[in-house]
Amino acid sequence: MTVTRTSESVPGPTRLATWLRCPRCGENLSPGGATWSLSCVRGHSFDANKRGYLNLVDRSRGILGDTDEILQSREAFLAAGHYSPIARLVSDALPRGEALSVLDSGCGTGYYLEHVLSSRPLWDALALDVSVAAVTRAVRETGAVGVVSDVWQPLPVRDARADVVLCVFAPRNAAEFDRVLAVDGVLVVVTPSAGHLRELREDGRMIGMQDDKIERLDAALHPLFAVEVRRSLEYTIGLTAAEAASLVAMGPTGHHERAARAQSAVDVTVGVDLTVYRRA
Ligand SMILES: C[S@@+](CC[C@H](N)C(=O)[O-])C[C@H]1O[C@@H](n2cnc3c(N)ncnc32)[C@H](O)[C@@H]1O
Ligand SMILES: [Zn+2]
Repeated sequence: MTVTRTSESVPGPTRLATWLRCPRCGENLSPGGATWSLSCVRGHSFDANKRGYLNLVDRSRGILGDTDEILQSREAFLAAGHYSPIARLVSDALPRGEALSVLDSGCGTGYYLEHVLSSRPLWDALALDVSVAAVTRAVRETGAVGVVSDVWQPLPVRDARADVVLCVFAPRNAAEFDRVLAVDGVLVVVTPSAGHLRELREDGRMIGMQDDKIERLDAALHPLFAVEVRRSLEYTIGLTAAEAASLVAMGPTGHHERAARAQSAVDVTVGVDLTVYRRA
């Protein structure tokens, strides 16, 4: 679904520029009139894509993050509604202020951001991911502006710009999230719990342990962030063989081509922890 949002009345290059700082010198970026060229006062300039995002990832590093194939699997799986309880959990946990701003870090297809924005038409959003294919989709699906950027590098986002940083099943850079959050901002993180997709690991379709232990997450964000609210969600979904294959293909094991092993219908546990962090 393509969403038309109220904030889209502001020209795209302006919306994008208000989020970004120059990746070379840190000065704010400004829009170049109606064009998608953004520049800083020191004369560094960057051509954003007219679809609404700026790509700051060096192409010589090859394809980073999720590939188009993984994203297609994720899109098909999410469209079936299997994770809609997680989308509701996320939307319910975010503030309800009228015109706040949200940075979705590791946005993927933009599925969660779309849910958040659908009930917050005045919000201003930036979709960030290291994958060009992900940001392209997220911008198209949510009406947000976007940036292709590696979360492990200094983010091209202005200081104190976001009221909310959202990070669902994606890597977290505590120092940078702290820098880009407004004084009263919140960081909302969703991680898989120990039981998440356990049946697919038990029957060998998926490899690897869940290493996202919640204690480790708190420790990684400490001392910058402290837990304000934590909610856990667990439910079971019945998957067809094809859906199970799609789920395997969209996870980290998608790279290992294990999807082909998913040959039977299966009931699978979905388990996540959502944490709202505030500055400690
Ligand atoms: C498991 S997906 C989650 C996507 C989305 N939040 C969702 O839940 O549908 C993880 C996302 O993080 C992105 N990612 C991985 N490493 C990254 C990095 N270093 N910087 C930015 N994004 C990254 C991937 O491209 C992928 O879109
Ligand atoms: Zn500059």
